Amino acid sequence: MSVQAIAWAPSGAVRIIDQRALPEAEITRDLESAEAVAEAIRTLQVRGAPLIGIAAAMGLVAALREHRTAPRAAFLARAAQVSDLLANARPTAVNLRWALHRMAGAAQATPGDSAGVWERLHAEAMAIWEEDRVMCRRIGEHGLTILADGSNVLTHCNTGALATGGIGTALAPLYLAHEQGRRLHVFVDETRPLLQGARLTVWELMHAGIPCTLITDAAAATLMRQAKVDVVLVGADRICANGDFANKIGTYGLAVLARHHGVPFYCAAPWSTVDSSLPEGDLIPIEQRSPGEVTVIAGRPIAPDGAAALNPAFDVTPARYVTGFITDRGILQPPFSSE
Ligand code: MRU
Repeated sequence: MSVQAIAWAPSGAVRIIDQRALPEAEITRDLESAEAVAEAIRTLQVRGAPLIGIAAAMGLVAALREHRTAPRAAFLARAAQVSDLLANARPTAVNLRWALHRMAGAAQATPGDSAGVWERLHAEAMAIWEEDRVMCRRIGEHGLTILADGSNVLTHCNTGALATGGIGTALAPLYLAHEQGRRLHVFVDETRPLLQGARLTVWELMHAGIPCTLITDAAAATLMRQAKVDVVLVGADRICANGDFANKIGTYGLAVLARHHGVPFYCAAPWSTVDSSLPEGDLIPIEQRSPGEVTVIAGRPIAPDGAAALNPAFDVTPARYVTGFITDRGILQPPFSSE
């Protein structure tokens, strides 16, 4: 029903769909080295908070293949180096560091030679992936309860199978509703500047046969004013202890609009996206990307040469705008604490 965004290549490399090329071309890439995985994360070949955590865990395993015969101390030192490289590929989604932290814990807890530690890391990466698949399904099941038959949902960015190890976060309830034969329709924000909504979410929903309509980000206000949106469903890259959360730039604006127009606004995410070490959203590191992503579309300049541009990739939505957090543990309200 949904696509699979990541896999092992026969060589033991990490196989991804290069999401930069969608929807024009479905290109898979085998990432053989730590550098290649880090570069793929940095350049959004592989993206979405849960998926970059899975990719990093698998990338660590792939990069350590050739060190399996090294002495244990050298193997662990290389693992720490690779982990640092991967952790620094993108700053905002906590899932990346969460997954690598889990991998480090697994390595430390495994006695014996490098080959055995590598096997344990392989198993841990598979567990992270499998658990994410299960969490997506659970998010979908909990999210179904807020979707009336015939709902018009508005979503932002891409939070589906291309962003996770399973059927997605904010898109998971939509996949399940459709599977059950419920009627629904999705308005998809195009999501400037990198157009994850237009390129990826519409592609996924069309593949699944879920009725959807692409809108410009700026059209959301008018649709809400015209009472054409029943519910807003978005994902998250990091959720703080008080419920403030970071997600794709433009999410905060949607939340304010939804409140103004009396539209329920839900954030869907696995528990791995909760970072209870941060008390509030102002502390979340926000990735600043190249101005060139704003001034150029598909290789064509859309602003005068030399125009200044700002490109924060994420924004923070205060918890007070959120109707509920749809997680694998149920629909929750902050505060959140670990475990
Ligand atoms: O920059 P991206 O494309 O990685 O941003 C992705 C998002 O903002 C998603 O909404 C978020 O990671 C949740 S994905 C299930």
